[in-house]
Amino acid sequence: MAVFNLNVNGKTQQVDVDPSTPMLWVLRDNLNLVGTKYGCGIAQCGSCTIHLEGVAVRSCQLPVSAVGNQKVTTIEGLSEHADHPVQKAWLEHDVPQCGYCQAGQIMSAAALLKSNPSPTDSDIEGAMNGNICRCGTYTRIKAAIKSAANS
Ligand code: FES
Ligand code: FES
Repeated sequence: MAVFNLNVNGKTQQVDVDPSTPMLWVLRDNLNLVGTKYGCGIAQCGSCTIHLEGVAVRSCQLPVSAVGNQKVTTIEGLSEHADHPVQKAWLEHDVPQCGYCQAGQIMSAAALLKSNPSPTDSDIEGAMNGNICRCGTYTRIKAAIKSAANS
C-alpha cells in the first residue's frame, strides 16, 4: 500500500492503495465517484473513460501510481451544473438508452471538442471509435457532438 495525493475534479484527494490499482477502482471504491463505469477492464469498451490533463484515457488500465500531479476529471467534475455543451446536446438529442456507456461517451466527446472544436464526421468517428454502446446510440451521439460543436 502507498499514499497518493490525487487531484480529482479540482480537489486534492488522498488514498492509501496498492500502487498498481487502476484509477477506475480508486475512483469508484475509494472516492465514491461511481459515474465512471466498469465495462471490459481491458481498455476495449471506453465505459471507464476519464480525462487526464484534459485528454481522454481509459481508467481501467491506468495505475494510480502513473497519475502523479496530473489533473483527473470524471463525469462528476466535467461541469458544475451538468451544463457542459456536450451534456446539454446529449439531453437535446435524447442520446442515452440504458445509459451504461454514456459517461464514457460524454467524456470522450468532451475531450474531442476540447482539442478539435469543429470536428468532421471522420474526426468524430475516429475519436469515438473506442467507445462501445450495446444499445446502439451511435447515430444520436454523432448528432449531439455536431450540435455541441456548433453551440
Ligand atoms: S472498462 Fe475500461 S475500456 Fe472497458
Ligand atoms: S446506452 Fe446502453 S450501452 Fe450505451
